[in-house]
Order: sequence, then C-alpha cells, then structure tokens
Amino acid sequence: MVNRIVWLMVIALTTSAITTNVSAQGPAPAFAPRDEQVEDLPEGPGRDETFGMCTGCHGYKLVSNQGMTRDKWDETLTWMSTRHGMPEIEGADRDLILDYLTAHHPPKAPARSGGFKNPFAPQ
Ligand code: HEC
Repeated sequence: MVNRIVWLMVIALTTSAITTNVSAQGPAPAFAPRDEQVEDLPEGPGRDETFGMCTGCHGYKLVSNQGMTRDKWDETLTWMSTRHGMPEIEGADRDLILDYLTAHHPPKAPARSGGFKNPFAPQ
C-alpha cells in the first residue's frame, strides 16, 4: 500500500516536471526587428541612418521587399511621417536615406516602354 502511494507520487512528480519543462521552453520566439543586423544590409553611404530610422518601427524586410524609384521612396517617407508618425526627415538627411534606398532597392522590374500592361484592361 505504501509502495503504491510512493509510486503514484513518483508518477505525479515526473508528470509535473515534464509539463513544467515543456512550458518553460515555450513556443518558438516571435520575430523581433532587432534580429536584423545593420551588417546584413548592402554597404553604402546612408546605410546606418536608413536601417536605424526604418527599423525603429518595423523589420527592414518590409523595406527591402519593395523596389521603387526615388520619387516613390520619397512619397513613402512622406507617408511614413504623415500616416505612421515617423519624424520628418529633411534636407541632407532625407537625401542620404533616399540615395541609399534608391541605390539598393530600385524598382524590381524596370519599367519597359509602356510599363506594366494589365491583361484584363479593355483593349
Ligand atoms: C514611426 C514608425 C515608422 C517608421 C519610423 C517607419 N515606418 Fe514604414 N511603416 C510603418 C507602419 C506602421 C507600417 C505598416 C503599414 C501598413 O501595414 O499599412 C509601415 C510600412 C512600411 C512599408 C510597407 C508598405 C506596404 O505597402 O506594405 C514600407 C515600404 C515602409 N514602411 C518603408 C519605410 C521606410 C523606408 C522607413 C525608413 C526611412 C520607414 N518605413 C520607417 C511605420 C513606420
């Protein structure tokens, strides 16, 4: 009888140890923007400034997934400020970041003559 109780306690303790262990490991860690390193970006003037500013709010992937002309990047910076509260970047600082973005994230498929043609557009 005593034996049986001891045995049950052993089982109970082992079970709780396993459960605790599993919950301590937890789910896979979520992505955090700081997992990205500035060194992962292509080198060039403005790299630190661009990375520093843009990853204040989101991963750099959100930026590097895009490819745009300088004008579109300029609009994007304005949009980040007016819509999302990014501090206004002006003058030489803005040029530096725009130069970096334009040099390293240009439009993916350069607009050919006529650019993108919507196949569903009425002929
Ligand atoms: C103050 C916060 C903030 C800063 C700083 C910021 N962004 Fe953003 N950005 C956002 C938010 C919020 C979104 C998500 C927008 C959405 O889902 O509509 C976003 C989305 C984007 C997108 C994706 C747009 C799309 O169509 O999916 C791009 C590109 C972008 N940001 C570029 C930049 C660049 C380049 C910089 C640095 C110069 C920057 N952002 C800095 C807040 C910020």
